[in-house]
Amino acid sequence: MRFLPLLCIGTLLTCNSPTPDTAPTTEAPEPAGLRDAAPFPIGGAINIRQVLSDEQLRDITTTEFSSLTSTNDMKMYRIADTEGELDFARADSTVAFAAEHGMRMFGHALVWHYALPDYIADMPAEELRIFLTEYIDTVVTHFRGRIDGWDVVNEVLDTKGGGMRDSPFYEKLGTDYIGLAFRTARRADPDAKLFINDFGTERDTAKLSGLLRLVDSLRAEEVPIDGIGFQWHQQMRDDTNTVRQTLRRAAATGLLIHISELDLIFNTHNDEAGGGTDDVQAVTPAMLEEQAERFETLARIYREEVPADQQYGITFWDFTDRDTWIRGFFDMGDWPTVFDEELARKPGYYGFRRGLGE
Ligand code: XIL
Repeated sequence: MRFLPLLCIGTLLTCNSPTPDTAPTTEAPEPAGLRDAAPFPIGGAINIRQVLSDEQLRDITTTEFSSLTSTNDMKMYRIADTEGELDFARADSTVAFAAEHGMRMFGHALVWHYALPDYIADMPAEELRIFLTEYIDTVVTHFRGRIDGWDVVNEVLDTKGGGMRDSPFYEKLGTDYIGLAFRTARRADPDAKLFINDFGTERDTAKLSGLLRLVDSLRAEEVPIDGIGFQWHQQMRDDTNTVRQTLRRAAATGLLIHISELDLIFNTHNDEAGGGTDDVQAVTPAMLEEQAERFETLARIYREEVPADQQYGITFWDFTDRDTWIRGFFDMGDWPTVFDEELARKPGYYGFRRGLGE
């Protein structure tokens, strides 16, 4: 005879399963995915059309990640391709997918010098200022309450060093476009976390200093900024101690820290489309082990250097060697992700998971 209702009162026991005859095991279950192994959100950047049409990729996405970013579908060239019209179809379907699977949706990116609609190029300054304000206002309002955070500005600094990038926005509006973008986004969705996102700051300390100076001056002008995004398209040869120092300096701002686009590249990409040196032509098991160790170290560095309340999470940018943007964009062979060509977990996957504190 069993007294299940009585046993359940005031306890954390599961009541709807039969009482086991064997002693309960104390061993923690193997985490099903990265999302179960991490104390902070783990993100994947996806192309929604591909995820919806590829069951294996869809399973990986929902098993592994607790946060989603669109690789391209929320960029200006996708949403505002036709002048005078906004097309939210793919972005909406990504947001719906995230909601259906209980994942956080992250917005990338409101203002970027790349992937712009062609008609931007001819706009005089005042027209561009009005366009940018209306664009941000309409897009952020459209997703209000459904997008947790935005890369408000992406890559506003030069590829190298700490200077400003000579983008169409900077050229016509000066540095003011950055404050305008953040203020407009804040008004449109006061609860969304607003980020400045950039790359190369983990290996170029002058660029990191430029970024932190910019963040300081924005905050001094009361520009509403909540976090800093570090893309982390890292190379295997990068110095992990510099990476650690970067996060230490950034965390001292007290802002949220998002590792927003993680890759771990064997070759030397040079940050320009089609550019870099692909002297590494094949990957060996020993190299994959080294990559695993480094994925472990990077996850550990993030946990150790970023206080828990500033850990916005770590997002992988594409997460299979089959689909990685690195191959197409830099025109080089590489193996920079945690899933292989057949979509199986690589040593790097397990390394990263160890680094999460398994
Ligand atoms: C990349 C996409 O993944 C590619 O598909 C596209 O061809 C180019 O852009 N930094 C960013 C991302 O902020 O938006 C970029 O995404 C990768 C570099």
